[in-house]
Amino acid sequence: MSEFISENLGVNSQGHLTIGGADTVALAKEYGTPLYVMDEQKIRDTLRRFHESLDRFYHGRSLVCYASKAFSCKEMCRIVASEGDGLDVVSAGELYTAIKAGFPMEKVGYHGNNKTTEELRMAVENGVGHIVVDNLPELRRLEAVAEELGKVPDIMLRIKPGIDAHTHQFIMTGQIDSKFGFALETGEAFEAVKEALSCGRVKLSGIHCHIGSQIFGIDPFEAAAGVMLDFAAKVKKELGYEIPGLNLGGGFGIKYLNTDDPQPFENYIERVAKVVKAKCEEHGLTEPFIYIEPGRAVAAPAGLTLYTVGARKEIPGIRTYVSVDGGMGDNPRYILYQSEYEVVSAERPLEERTEKVTVAGRCCESGDLIGENMPIQHVDSGDIIAVLATGAYNYSMSSNYNRVGKPAVVFVNNGEARIAVKRETLDDVIRNDV
Ligand code: LLP
Repeated sequence: MSEFISENLGVNSQGHLTIGGADTVALAKEYGTPLYVMDEQKIRDTLRRFHESLDRFYHGRSLVCYASKAFSCKEMCRIVASEGDGLDVVSAGELYTAIKAGFPMEKVGYHGNNKTTEELRMAVENGVGHIVVDNLPELRRLEAVAEELGKVPDIMLRIKPGIDAHTHQFIMTGQIDSKFGFALETGEAFEAVKEALSCGRVKLSGIHCHIGSQIFGIDPFEAAAGVMLDFAAKVKKELGYEIPGLNLGGGFGIKYLNTDDPQPFENYIERVAKVVKAKCEEHGLTEPFIYIEPGRAVAAPAGLTLYTVGARKEIPGIRTYVSVDGGMGDNPRYILYQSEYEVVSAERPLEERTEKVTVAGRCCESGDLIGENMPIQHVDSGDIIAVLATGAYNYSMSSNYNRVGKPAVVFVNNGEARIAVKRETLDDVIRNDV
């Protein structure tokens, strides 16, 4: 189906859009709308593409840690665990989800630029594989927690490599303006390494960087890996310590629109692995254990959102609004980033998309749109539409604005559907009110 952005989408004998072999119109009927649908096999296939290419190009000394901020629920954690991959969590809530899903804690990395002491304690008590330390006060609080609990947690240090990787270009920045991590050029990162090595309460198992998200080019990833290994070489030379791990974060770009043309993930891995090997040879370093943290790449293409069309308003000479039963509450990405999506009629996906409409949400907010100028088949009240590639940063960023309950999440696999997160009821909406 060249029309569709992902090969897990298709059309069945009734002419309906399918995902993972399941009929989207039937899903809407059975589970109601708005509905998030996640394709289990697509998630598994993408995770395998990442870990298999790391095996191939970096002889397996690596771990893929799925970034659960992209999409987290217990079922997602179970799927990632069953693939043997790791998990990146960034809050007590994401960690708790992993714990309750029985996720192996030694494969969890705990992130965040402003972790509370309670969160650090929870991470240490539960024996997470590594804590990614963001700043010196946090390192000191972690040392105190470790002492109190009599443990020596593995840590990585979050470094700002000074690579600006937004959109399609990359520019080396002299000045780093980010709330995340230790700066290299001020000496802050080096000081943090010294403290981590001397305090005796933590084990420095790696350095970490994450240069951005939805990055299409490979050059910035190569540049970041190079900067990080230059830093590791400096640490070895001046402090005599070889940092065993290198975490290169996430950020792999995906196809949202038919016109997007991201590189296959394998190409990133191949080229970055080459840089790592070459840099290690140049500096006489042992090749590090590599971690990557893809979030969007794993979750986004595996998901779509189904809505029922309500009001249709044609404003002559201006635009046509098609309002749906969801909006910024379940997908805040347009209002936040003017992000673009493909949308199709779930009932008639093969028909030509003859109109360009503004798909609007149901919140009391003019900016509550799913998108503008979206090509779509003629749709009217009662029709089901599918917004594609919404598996990442939609459910995970959803809210209860206007006291609208969050949609259900359904997983599909080989044509079969199962509920993973129940739809919020009105009682759920008021459950914490006193
Ligand atoms: N690792 C770290 C430390 C991160 O901060 C992130 C994302 C990832 C990994 C995963 O990056 P990914 O592979 O998903 O690009 N809400 C935004 C995206 C924010 C990404 C934040 N950090 C959006 O909807 O586009």
